[in-house]
Order: sequence, then C-alpha cells, then structure tokens
Amino acid sequence: MPQSSLANRVAGAYTVAGTAWILVSGEAVSRIFGTDLATHSLFEIGKGLLFVTVTAVALRWLLVRELKRRSEADEARVKATERLVLLLQQSVEALSHTLSQRDPYTAGHQARVSALSVAIAERMGLPADRVDAIRTGALLHDVGKIAIPAEILSKPGRLSPDEFNLVKGHARIGTTIVAKIDFDAAVHAVVGQHHERLDGSGYPQGLRGDAIPLEARIVAVADIVEAMTSHRPYRPALGIAAAEAEVRALRGHKLDATAVDTCLAVIADGLEKVWPDYGTAPTDFRPMSVLSATP
Ligand SMILES: [Fe+2]
Repeated sequence: MPQSSLANRVAGAYTVAGTAWILVSGEAVSRIFGTDLATHSLFEIGKGLLFVTVTAVALRWLLVRELKRRSEADEARVKATERLVLLLQQSVEALSHTLSQRDPYTAGHQARVSALSVAIAERMGLPADRVDAIRTGALLHDVGKIAIPAEILSKPGRLSPDEFNLVKGHARIGTTIVAKIDFDAAVHAVVGQHHERLDGSGYPQGLRGDAIPLEARIVAVADIVEAMTSHRPYRPALGIAAAEAEVRALRGHKLDATAVDTCLAVIADGLEKVWPDYGTAPTDFRPMSVLSATP
C-alpha cells in the first residue's frame, strides 16, 4: 500500500474515532455519573488532557519514525557518494598507471608530480577543491603519451624535430582523452596546459600569463623538478640542485613566481616528506641502448 494512502486512512480513522469520542463521551458520563455540573466539568478536563496526550504520543511516534527514515536515507546517500568518489580515484590511478606500463622510465612520474603539486598548492593556501583538481590533473597530466610510440618515449638518444613534435602532441591527445570525463575544469586545464609558459613560448596553444590557469602553472613547476631529479632514457638524473637552479632561472618569465618560490620552500623542508622513497631509490643509471644490448 502506498504511504500516502496509508497516511490518509490513519488520519481518517483518527478523525472518526475522535469525533465519536467527543459526541458519545458527554452522553456516557451523564448516564453514569448523573447531571452534576462539577462532575461534568472534571470529566471535560480529563477528556481534554487525554486527547492532548494521545495526540502528542502519536505525533512524537510519527516524527521519530520520519527522522529515522531520513537519517537512514542520508546515510545511504553519503555511503553511495563516498563509493563513487573512491571509484573515480581508483579509475584515475588505473588510467595513470596504464602509461607507466608502456613507458618504464616515467613510471611513477605522474604520481610524484601529483604529490609535489599538491604540496605546493597546499602551502600556497589553495582551497581543498582546487587542491583535489591539481592532484587528479597531475596524476593524468601525461596521459596523452599513451598514443606516442613506445620506441620514441624510450629512445636513448636525442629526439629528431619530428619525433619531438610527436611527443609534444601528448598535451592535445591528453586533452581529448580527459574531455570524455566530466572532471572539474581545472583538471582539464592541467592535462592540456602543463607545458604552456608565461611568455607564450610553451605548447600546445602558446598561452601567456594569466591565460594559463594557476593549477597548470603549479603542475608545470613540479613537472620540471620531478623530470630533472629522475633518470630519463637519454640521461641520468640531474639532481635536486640542478632542478632548483632551473626553476629559479625560469621564475617569473616562464614559470609562475609564487609557484616556484613555494616549490623551493617545499624542497627546503625536505622532499622525503613529499616523496617517501626520495633518496632511497637505486641511483644507478644504464641507458636504454646498454639495456637493449644486454643479452
Ligand atoms: Fe607532459
């Protein structure tokens, strides 16, 4: 039976019973106790009190039942939302991890860029929703490399201009991939614009200054620092001092000054707080040509 129909029946029964009680009770008391005015008056008071008590008990029961039903529904809604958020996070991490299967030299790159970008954003005092967008965007920022041939991504030597242009296409391809997902606009901006530079020398659009969202400017700084502190197919890791010098040199004209200053402060605090395995990973480097020559 629908709830509204049940409610109508209960209300109807309550009205009929209440009316009968009012009409019959006066007559009944006259028959039982006679027509004494004082007795009638007492009875009317008792009747009123009983009516109020019964109504209050019924109302309380209905209210408690309704509040309990709502709180159970809210709890179920919160659990469903938390599950959706978790599923989205796991999907993003799975997508991010897919790239590392094709490009072992950049395995972990996106995760480390994400951690450093988040540390910079939090230190800059950005609100939680913007930090979350940076975390997700940075985890996926190079996802477009999935479409770049693995032999180019892992090429031990210098890339030809054509090969370099092909690699640069990853920003546009990444934009196309994440466009299919209804992320926050900042996530799309990070994926598509992390190679833009303040002076317009970046790619793919050559955007300038504030036309590049802050989220993408932060990830750009973290991207350079992570890339320089990690091995690449064509060179060993250059070290944190070189990375600091590089972002300092680009500060203000290519890279966001505040993001660079904040990144340097994060580094000064200790990169091991951002990258737990920093300094503990193996530091030996063998170029891909050596690896492929090994039987
Ligand atoms: Fe990139």
